[in-house]
Amino acid sequence: MSSVKLIIDKKEIKLPLIKGTESESGIDIRMLRKETGCITFDPGYANTGSCTSKITFIDGEKGILRYRGYPIEDLAGKVKFTDVAYLLIYGHMPNKDIKATFSKRLRQNANIHEDMKRFFDGFPLNAHPMATLSSMATALSAFTPETAHDDNEAIDDTIIKILAKVKTIAAYSYRKYHGLPFIYPNPELNYVENFLHMMFSDSQENFYADPVLIEALDLLLILHADHEQNCSTSTVRMAGSSLSNVFGAISSGIAALWGPLHGGANQAVLEMLKKIREDDADYKKYIQLAKDKNSSFRLMGFGHRVYKNYDPRAKIIKVIADKVLTKLKINDPLLDIAKELEEAALNDDYFISRKLYPNVDFYSGIIYRAMGIPANMFTVMFALGRLPGWLAHWKEMINSEDFRISRPRQIYIGAQKTHLKNK
Ligand code: SDX
Repeated sequence: MSSVKLIIDKKEIKLPLIKGTESESGIDIRMLRKETGCITFDPGYANTGSCTSKITFIDGEKGILRYRGYPIEDLAGKVKFTDVAYLLIYGHMPNKDIKATFSKRLRQNANIHEDMKRFFDGFPLNAHPMATLSSMATALSAFTPETAHDDNEAIDDTIIKILAKVKTIAAYSYRKYHGLPFIYPNPELNYVENFLHMMFSDSQENFYADPVLIEALDLLLILHADHEQNCSTSTVRMAGSSLSNVFGAISSGIAALWGPLHGGANQAVLEMLKKIREDDADYKKYIQLAKDKNSSFRLMGFGHRVYKNYDPRAKIIKVIADKVLTKLKINDPLLDIAKELEEAALNDDYFISRKLYPNVDFYSGIIYRAMGIPANMFTVMFALGRLPGWLAHWKEMINSEDFRISRPRQIYIGAQKTHLKNK
């Protein structure tokens, strides 16, 4: 089937079908309004494809996730996060030389301008690190020359700067929140080691980082690196489609990710687990609450717009959570509550019938907590992981043949023409 017929008011039009390499089909409606005067209506865009993309493939029914064709299971814990960042952005795995150059450029660009450090003084001590991260991401543009959208060298340089510097801003946000002196990036350290050094070392000289934590964090960042047209990535594409500078587009992605329905869910999961623990660990009560239409409570970390099967990332994270806590000799009652909650939900018809499974956010906070990362930094960690995905989609969009500014339509249901009454 290469097209579909549509009959509106006895007028019949043919609309072409777009087929993807994994046999997804889309009705190409680019001529719809011109031919019929009609638009489509799809709040939340659950049935709407905004673009074609070669970056990430998800099969929500089968629980499949692939970055540039590589199954997530073949990447997570097998290669470095910076290799995956390169893969997503440039479309192929880096060879040894490219890895060395990419890693060196990330290390060389990890510092932020000294004047930017003063911005942190303007934030209240209890500023949420996501507020700091999104505003400082935009502020980076004030210290970086405008990136011409057709200058690939300038784009590559800006991508390196964002990947390298946003990590430093994230660590500084943590240090600021806890009243600690900033630890500068160490040019000898790779991405994850450097981040943990800036977060937890007690002095510039001492390099802190337990190999268990380095391995776990590298894996978590890979699992969060991209997820096709999720809310925050679509926001980056939307903002970037006006050719606004990429720093602002990334900052808008950070703001979108912050929401508890999206990346903010990892912090909300931990708060939920703590609440259940304080309530005699009565997880069955919260299962009932989640099912109660009169209650606004939702099981955070459960459900997904695309996955109607177990989120493959959640599967991996659940295994790693056990490993990391065992290696660190931590017995976290919240992990036990999470497992009991999952077990109860997966055997409850409300969740089964709605195909609600644990998503990437359900167990990730348990690991971050075991690493000593506070709950208000969990979504910052998600943003660090998703950064290469956002940059990959921004780059793919501005280079696409059908690139144009995004501007959806609407169905107006407001007042018809009215006149001001004579006074
Ligand atoms: C991420 O898109 C991505 O790829 C996102 C992400 C990524 O990597 O970028 O995977 C990361 O954002 C993961 C999702 C994190 N959010 C949460 O864990 C918050 C809790 N989950 C829900 O709010 C919800 O499941 C969403 C937001 C994730 C999905 O919302 P949808 O697709 O709009 O689903 P819906 O609200 O229409 O739910 C369908 C039904 C409803 O019941 P009925 O009206 O049919 O009776 O399922 C129910 C919902 O009430 N439901 C839940 C539920 N999630 C859905 N009921 C209880 N608890 C939940 N968590």
